[in-house]
Amino acid sequence: MEPSIFEDDGPDDEHHFGGVWTLIKLEALEKYLIAFNNALSKQSFIRIYIDAFAGTGRCDIKMDGEKTSIDGSARRALTTNPPFHKFCFIELRPKKLAALKALETEYPGKTIDVIRNDANAALKALCAQYGWRNERAVLFLDPFGMHVEWATLEAIAKTGAIDVWYLFPYAGLYRQAAKDADAMDADKEESITRLLGTDEWRQVFYTPKRQASLFGGDHGDERDVDHHQMLDFVSKRLKTIFPAVTAPKILYQGGDPKNPSGAPLFALYFAASNPKPGAFGLATKIAKDILDTL
Ligand SMILES: C[S@@+](CC[C@H](N)C(=O)[O-])C[C@H]1O[C@@H](n2cnc3c(N)ncnc32)[C@H](O)[C@@H]1O
Repeated sequence: MEPSIFEDDGPDDEHHFGGVWTLIKLEALEKYLIAFNNALSKQSFIRIYIDAFAGTGRCDIKMDGEKTSIDGSARRALTTNPPFHKFCFIELRPKKLAALKALETEYPGKTIDVIRNDANAALKALCAQYGWRNERAVLFLDPFGMHVEWATLEAIAKTGAIDVWYLFPYAGLYRQAAKDADAMDADKEESITRLLGTDEWRQVFYTPKRQASLFGGDHGDERDVDHHQMLDFVSKRLKTIFPAVTAPKILYQGGDPKNPSGAPLFALYFAASNPKPGAFGLATKIAKDILDTL
């Protein structure tokens, strides 16, 4: 099922609040953007920032019952120094697109391309648009849920020139992959397959319940892997297409990162697509150092 560009995504602007995890992902991204531009500042590459789920440039968060508004990914990218040469902001929702358009006026010296489209379609088009010899990019994949299709990740990896921060929908995956396979309908199964690029997860995650196996058949399967094993599967999958992938940082509902509480919500990955060991080695070292300090 293709996502519609008119589809409303999840919670309404006014009712959606991030939390501690929002701060953590944005801090990681911001630190990497600075390091990336510093590392490439003496080279002639055109440096591009791509925000595939760009939002508005501001994020509303609620921590310890207090609501506050902080700079979102787009604004953080725009104020990175040394600067990027170009910005691509992809978004679906009209109200958010208007806020992104307003950034063009607010930052008149910046080359900003605001793209109204589904992130998957827009990213595939961007990957095909450049030769990726003279360009290097950082891409932030920050969906609310399971929106990023595997085919999109493949297109990104093939460029050999895009570094990716991916806020993987950990909770989305383990909620869709229900404990009892009978609770999963075909749509849910397809969405997991689109996310992971294979249906092998069905065999890896599920085994027949003893009673059901007596009668054979698919029904009655039960998930017998825990959340961590599911995430291991995700990491292995990412490593099949990207030359380097960091261990994910698990982001929880609440608490500080050293003392988390609540359910794990997301897994923050960094993946480098440049196949040259010197390039992916440096990129992942920087990303790992950042993730370790969070
Ligand atoms: C978590 S928010 C992004 C927050 C943003 N990165 C920031 O830090 O300010 C996810 C955004 O993705 C948008 N969105 C949802 N589905 C989308 C899709 N298929 N393609 C592009 N954008 C989408 C939503 O409207 C929402 O603004």
